[in-house]
Amino acid sequence: MEASAGTLFSLLLILLFTSTPGALGSNPGLVARITDKGLEYVAKEGAMVLQRKLRGISLPDFTGDFKIRHLGRVHYEFHSLDISSCELLGSALMPLPGQGLRLTLYDSFIGAHGKWKVRKSLLKLDGSFDVGVKDITISVDLLLGSEPSGRPTVTVSSCSSHISDVEVDISGDLGWLLNLFHSQIESRFQEALESKICEKIQNSVTSDLQPYLQTLPVTTEIDNLTSIDYSLMEAPRVTDHVLDVRFKGEIFNHDHRSPVTFVAPAMSLPEEHSRMVYFAISDYVFNTASLVYQEAGYLNFSITDDMVPPDSPIRLTTKSFRVFVPRLAKLYPNMNLELQGAVVPAPFLNFSPGNLSLAPNMEIDAFVILPSSAREPVFRLGVTTNVSAVLTFNTTKITGFLKPGKVQVELKESKVGVFNVELLEALINFHILNTLYPKINDKLAKGLPLPLLKHIRLYDLVLQIHKDFLFLGSNIQYTKV
Ligand SMILES: *[C@@H]1O[C@H](CO)[C@@H](O)[C@H](O)[C@H]1NC(C)=O
Ligand SMILES: *[C@@H]1O[C@H](CO)[C@@H](O)[C@H](O)[C@H]1NC(C)=O
Ligand SMILES: *[C@@H]1O[C@H](CO)[C@@H](O)[C@H](O)[C@H]1NC(C)=O
Ligand SMILES: *[C@@H]1O[C@H](CO)[C@@H](O)[C@H](O)[C@H]1NC(C)=O
Ligand SMILES: *[C@@H]1O[C@H](CO)[C@@H](O)[C@H](O)[C@H]1NC(C)=O
Repeated sequence: MEASAGTLFSLLLILLFTSTPGALGSNPGLVARITDKGLEYVAKEGAMVLQRKLRGISLPDFTGDFKIRHLGRVHYEFHSLDISSCELLGSALMPLPGQGLRLTLYDSFIGAHGKWKVRKSLLKLDGSFDVGVKDITISVDLLLGSEPSGRPTVTVSSCSSHISDVEVDISGDLGWLLNLFHSQIESRFQEALESKICEKIQNSVTSDLQPYLQTLPVTTEIDNLTSIDYSLMEAPRVTDHVLDVRFKGEIFNHDHRSPVTFVAPAMSLPEEHSRMVYFAISDYVFNTASLVYQEAGYLNFSITDDMVPPDSPIRLTTKSFRVFVPRLAKLYPNMNLELQGAVVPAPFLNFSPGNLSLAPNMEIDAFVILPSSAREPVFRLGVTTNVSAVLTFNTTKITGFLKPGKVQVELKESKVGVFNVELLEALINFHILNTLYPKINDKLAKGLPLPLLKHIRLYDLVLQIHKDFLFLGSNIQYTKV
């Protein structure tokens, strides 16, 4: 009961935060930009898909009459009409600023094949025919939107096709006769084809493109603690040369999501066009992750004497501290110590041009383990260090690792007098190098998935580090075999 009330409450908070325009969280955590080069690639791939779709489609049968001198009325029927070949050679996808995209297919050829029948009184003749259609231009306007769930949508707002030249080649006994009426027949074909093409495209957008766009992972699980929210914050934005998709880009604890109390920075994307897509990934994405892991205690650690390497000049026993903290040994003779560390607050990644770094602060509380197993706090240390982060990429993910810097330890509080913490520095350094960093690096190696549609692979990556965001450029490849 309590849990569901809590869930409801956080849901309300989330709704409150995400539905107020201009309020907290109105900047996207991640922007994916498709450049004109990317649109060109998409147009080419789209044309290839449509080419396959149009091949093999059937056109409606049609019938008609014509009058021949001395013979009178002749009835004809065209049937079993299939598109046997389709080459869509020219394609372009142009931004319609503020609206969507216009797909234009030109320089195209369609070949159809079918059968004919002619009837005049008792006379019945039949044969086959080929149709060659040259100079087809198809223009489709696509409207892009987003569902309340944050998934992208696409609909056709208009479609037109224009055929300027049809050639029908009729064979069979009476073929020569029908050829006399080719202009009438050709215009019937033109009509049938033109309407069928748009119908087929409309179907393909609804039943192929829309489901494909919805393969976008709106929520992706990263591990057993976190997921990333890649819902669209609004319909994709189309400007003169680019298409921008704004994603929330927030990492959250999937057991109990709580509203984030800091905002994503406003990002001003550089004008770059050498790659097909660019991802601007703000520090918000990384910092929301840091917050979740920190709050879940993932960055907490504990050091006990059994973890101290044998060659250490100091052990976590009060006896070992005798020389430099005499009061500790006197008050708690022959007892073990435990150091409990936490990174506080959650470390934020600093982005500066060309550099990624973080400066985590750790608080380490030292406890004496009393014979009763109770823990008695004796002193507190503050640890600071500078860490640089190195990012790497593979085809669908950003991965990385931390390069540790020197640690600086200072005594913050003590119930056992002031002492020199230098000896503890090596011990702490040893521990965080051997347990905390590998643990974090292990997570970083698993990587952050990018919001990519199914079967999309990245290559030719370039990375820039800007103030507040990473700018990752890449070419894309649709890899479905
Ligand atoms: C999550 O996975 C880690 C290992 O990857 C494991 O140590 C931990 O216990 C798991 N946590 C939960 C809540 O299942
Ligand atoms: C992590 O350590 C801090 C400081 O000792 C403590 O306040 C916090 O409760 C710990 N978190 C978890 C999840 O254990
Ligand atoms: C990046 O950080 C390193 C280490 O902090 C520093 O030596 C280097 O000068 C920095 N580079 C730039 C471009 O700021
Ligand atoms: C970390 O870097 C800051 C700024 O460059 C410097 O003041 C501080 O001393 C460094 N800390 C450590 C532990 O190296
Ligand atoms: C990319 O990284 C993931 C996670 O580390 C890994 O499973 C995958 O094999 C990597 N892919 C390539 C092509 O290296």
